[in-house]
Amino acid sequence: MSVARTIQDQLERASWIRRMFEEGIRLRRERGAENVFDFTLGNPEVEPPEAVIAALRRVVDENRPHSHGYMPNAGFPAVRQVVARRLAARTGLGFTADDVLMTVGAAGAINTLLKAILDPGDEVIVLNPYFPEYRFYIENHAGRVVPVETDDGFQPDVARIAAAITPRTRAIILNSPNNPTGVVYPEAVLRELNEIVRDPVIVIADEPYRPLVFDAIEPPETLRLIERSAVAWSWSKAMALAGERIGYLALSPRLHELAALRGACTFTNRILGYINAPAIWQWVVAEVPDATVDVAPYQAKRDLLCDALAAMGYHAPRPQGSFYCFPHTPIDDDVAFIRRLQQEGILAVPGSGFGRGGYMRLSLTIARQDLERSLPGFERALRQP
Ligand SMILES: Cc1ncc(COP(=O)(O)O)c(C=O)c1O
Repeated sequence: MSVARTIQDQLERASWIRRMFEEGIRLRRERGAENVFDFTLGNPEVEPPEAVIAALRRVVDENRPHSHGYMPNAGFPAVRQVVARRLAARTGLGFTADDVLMTVGAAGAINTLLKAILDPGDEVIVLNPYFPEYRFYIENHAGRVVPVETDDGFQPDVARIAAAITPRTRAIILNSPNNPTGVVYPEAVLRELNEIVRDPVIVIADEPYRPLVFDAIEPPETLRLIERSAVAWSWSKAMALAGERIGYLALSPRLHELAALRGACTFTNRILGYINAPAIWQWVVAEVPDATVDVAPYQAKRDLLCDALAAMGYHAPRPQGSFYCFPHTPIDDDVAFIRRLQQEGILAVPGSGFGRGGYMRLSLTIARQDLERSLPGFERALRQP
C-alpha cells in the first residue's frame, strides 16, 4: 500500500464526512433533489457583494505590470499595508505591513503558523466542540491535539484551559464566531484568557466568521485583548469567496518573538507549497477590504429555524454569529437522530463529528424556501417514537 499509514488513519477518522456526502447522493437519487433539504454545507449561499465583483473587473482591466507574477512570499507590500492600517485602527496597536502575511484562506494561515511553531509532540489546545479540520492541521505538523471542553453555553472554560496547559503547549485555537455552535466569545472571557496565556503559548484566533454576526453585536478584538495572539482571517465567508482562497495571518506586534515569527511564517507559507496567496485576489481585497455580504438573510433564516424548532419542542438556542445553529438532538444518540432526519429527507451533521454528541449542526446556507419546506420533517422526526 503506497498511502501513508497516518493518512489512512486520518481518512478513516474523517470518513463520516464522506458517508454523509454519499448518503446525500443516495437520498437525492431516491427522492429527487427538490425533496432533499441539505443543512450540511459550509458554503456561503449568497453571491459576493457587487463591490467585490466591480473591484475584480477594475483589477483585470487595469492589468498592472507584473501583477500576475511571483511576489514576496508574504504578499504584495501595498496590500499588506492596507490590511495593517485597518488592524491598527481596529485594535489601537502599531501594526505594520510586516506583521501581515497574505494567505490561502484561514486554513492556509493556521497551517502556516502551526508549521512555524510546532516541533513534533508539541501540544495545541482546541475547545470542544471544534471545527474538525483543526485536528488534521495540527497533525500536519506532528503536533498533538488537546481538546478541552467548553461550558454549557459553549464558552471557553478558562480554568479547564489553564489546567490543560503543559510545558509542551504551544498554541490555543479560538474560533469566534464559532463553527459549529454560533457563539461569540465576550470580552470578559478573552481578558481572563489573557491572564493565563504565557510565553511560549500563542492564541490563534480563527476569525473567518467575524463579520457574520446577528442583532448588531460586535465581537471583541482578540488582538487587543490577548497580548500573545495572532489572527487567522479569511474573506471566504465575509465576501462569499470561499473558492478563491484569500485571507491573511496577522501577528500581534506585542509578541516579543515577532521578528523571528514573521520570518518563520514567510518561510513556512512558501515551503508548504502555497508560495503566496493568489495575486489577483490580493489586489481585489485591497480595493474593498471591508465589503461584506448582507447578513440579513442569514439572520432571518436563523430566526425562522430557531423559532420553529423551539415551538416544536427542540432545545435550539439562537446563534449569535457564523451561519450555523447547534440544537440539542431530542435523543442522546445524535447519529441515530441524524438517521431519523434522513428518513425525512433532511441532511444534518451530528454533533459528535465536532466532538460533542447529543447535538446537531444545521447550516443556514440552505435556501429559505427549502428551510420552510423542511420544517414538517423536523416535527415528524421529533414525534417519532
Ligand atoms: C472555523 C473555520 N475555520 C477555518 C475555515 C477555513 O476557512 P478558509 O476557507 O478561509 O480557509 C473554516 C471553513 O469552513 C471554518 O469553518
